[in-house]
Amino acid sequence: MQIIIYDNAHQVAESAAKWVKELINKKPAPVLGLATGSTPISLYKQLVEQHKAQGLSFKNVTTFNLDEYHQIDPLNPQSYRSFMDKNLFSHVDIDMNNTFLPTCAVGENPRVQGLAYEENIKKHGGIDLQILGIGANGHIGFNEPTSSLSSRTRIKTLTQQTISDNSRLFKPNEKQPTMAMTMGIATIMNARYVLLMATGANKANAVKDMITGGVSAMCPASALQMHENAIILLDKAAASELGEQNYYQWAESENRKLIEHYGYFHNY
Ligand code: GLP
Repeated sequence: MQIIIYDNAHQVAESAAKWVKELINKKPAPVLGLATGSTPISLYKQLVEQHKAQGLSFKNVTTFNLDEYHQIDPLNPQSYRSFMDKNLFSHVDIDMNNTFLPTCAVGENPRVQGLAYEENIKKHGGIDLQILGIGANGHIGFNEPTSSLSSRTRIKTLTQQTISDNSRLFKPNEKQPTMAMTMGIATIMNARYVLLMATGANKANAVKDMITGGVSAMCPASALQMHENAIILLDKAAASELGEQNYYQWAESENRKLIEHYGYFHNY
């Protein structure tokens, strides 16, 4: 794991945007894994700005989102499809036919849908860079604690903690879904690079468990300890429970010297 601690959330988003930009500029047909939640919104804002100001083009980009609520109408403003349209897709030149979410509509079989999603990712050559946030209970995507570390795209029942954490996003009279289709932990682990963004003090415990706890289904993000290319972008508040903060900061400044000398090298 490469742990990078920034002063604030804005810098975390700036850094994540650089990763995305590098992938888009480097690969002719990049495949990007996307996340929802409050954390990546500032990343998407930066990408939209770069599209408008610097011509960053999404024409050849294919995207796979981590998750989507079970049986939700894509036009429902609470759907993750609506979230992506609002925060990214409708502001850039992406071909909407190349944007995928793991959906399961009424009448569809979640097992068939899950397998089809996995096949579609494979058909596109796999995910180059997967953006991730983290839940306060250590979930990634909607892989809640207890999720198998070998899981694939499937349906998951949300925990009470996640339902209550996300209730802030729903109006009192709005129905809040309790199930979702999500990429599995093994699906995420197959991405060539994973870039996890965590900001704010409410993520500090989950971040500590992910980085320094044992690898366990009770903290799904801890599986990333086993990923070859996991980059963890934190603001100071999210990093506040880590005991090795000075080491991570020093290691990162040493790493920058290597980058200055050899340039970036990402093996997409
Ligand atoms: C949601 C999503 C996750 C996200 C997490 C944290 O429920 N399924 O992909 O990373 O919770 O969200 P936030 O960034 O709003 O804290």
